[in-house]
Amino acid sequence: MKTPSTWLVVAGARPNFVKIAPLMKAIRRYNDHDALSGPAVRPVLVHTGQHYDRNLSSVFFEELDIPRPDVNLGVGSGGHGQQTGMVMIALEKFISAERPDLVIVVGDVNSTLAAALVSVKLAIPVAHIEAGLRSFDRTMPEEINRVLTDHVSDYLFTPCEDADRNLLREGIARERIFPVGNILADSVAMILPKTSQSAAAPFVSGIARRCGTEGRYALLTLHRPSNVDRKEVLEGLITTISDLSARVPVIFPVHPRTVKQIRTFGLEEHLAWLDEEPLAARSKTGGRIFAVPAMGYLDFIAVLRGADLVFTDSGGVQEESALLGVPCITLRDRTEWTVTVDCGSNILAGQDAESIRTAFSSALSRPHRQDPRRPALWDGSAAERIVGALKDAAR
Ligand code: UD1
Repeated sequence: MKTPSTWLVVAGARPNFVKIAPLMKAIRRYNDHDALSGPAVRPVLVHTGQHYDRNLSSVFFEELDIPRPDVNLGVGSGGHGQQTGMVMIALEKFISAERPDLVIVVGDVNSTLAAALVSVKLAIPVAHIEAGLRSFDRTMPEEINRVLTDHVSDYLFTPCEDADRNLLREGIARERIFPVGNILADSVAMILPKTSQSAAAPFVSGIARRCGTEGRYALLTLHRPSNVDRKEVLEGLITTISDLSARVPVIFPVHPRTVKQIRTFGLEEHLAWLDEEPLAARSKTGGRIFAVPAMGYLDFIAVLRGADLVFTDSGGVQEESALLGVPCITLRDRTEWTVTVDCGSNILAGQDAESIRTAFSSALSRPHRQDPRRPALWDGSAAERIVGALKDAAR
């Protein structure tokens, strides 16, 4: 029997966990059905520990049936240099001992770049899932992570055509680019059948009914440093959306980084906190933004699916809303997911109050699309295409 190839899969933060779920499943399926004599791939899962809170980490492993990581590097929070450096130091030791045949990294978080850099320096081939995306905004830490990871990777798995074009423009050889589609579409397809089990969805509908909006509500997520690290910006966004909440209540699952900033800047009074009893009907300033702790994937997708629209600065939510046909208002000036703007689900509104109000009126008047126009290859089979391409390349 041939010795299986060892594939190290590295994940560190919430958006990574969601995307490795279909990959791990596709590897399992390949070993069970397609490998001719015994398992052809030995997956080794590394959790860097960048995210460690239950609702940013373990809940995703449970709900998406991701195997327990083989190792957790436990790097935790810190500055960019510190966090990236800690992953590199710990992972270099692990990879040197393990000597995998391939390292697979996902997305654009600090753990992604750290793992790619360590691997390439140890002469281990690197595969990057979600390659080629560009916001062309170098102030975003993720943009730096994306560009550098792509340029040291051997296999670039792209989710959409503009990503292919970006890579070619940067001089990356066509043979290294594999247009496989969006793996997040696979993740959404995995979780959708389970959303009927969500306790959050009926809770949120109940809040919306109590508000007298016939169960209609909007959703809000915010965590980018550019939106939450300066008081005037965060306050501006929250007060603008609080004004708009007169028309539909807004459910706000809050990332721990944002909770910290809201408390530091003393902005709590603009939010009705739903983890406190008794449930508030409005915030102290009269708005109807209802804050809840960050949600797991099952609850988040169930609540997003039922929303009239979503305000967000997350990359993943722009993709998920496109997949679910929910109008999305992106609170950034630029996006790496221009394909979602092109397919008509996403409006880039930035941080300006007037632009957000205009986008809100336009999104609220759009019919919720049962059958959204999806970009090519956002069909739930990206992970299989990735595993297939890697196996073909190894022959
Ligand atoms: C990271 C990614 C971002 C991604 C986001 C999803 C980078 C540069 N950023 O941002 O691309 O969209 O994850 O959530 O990699 N914290 C906790 N508990 C945790 C993790 C973090 O409380 O489990 C708090 C800590 O105060 C920490 C802060 O959140 O300092 C920021 O965490 P970090 O991982 O540095 O970046 P995110 O903002 O989560």
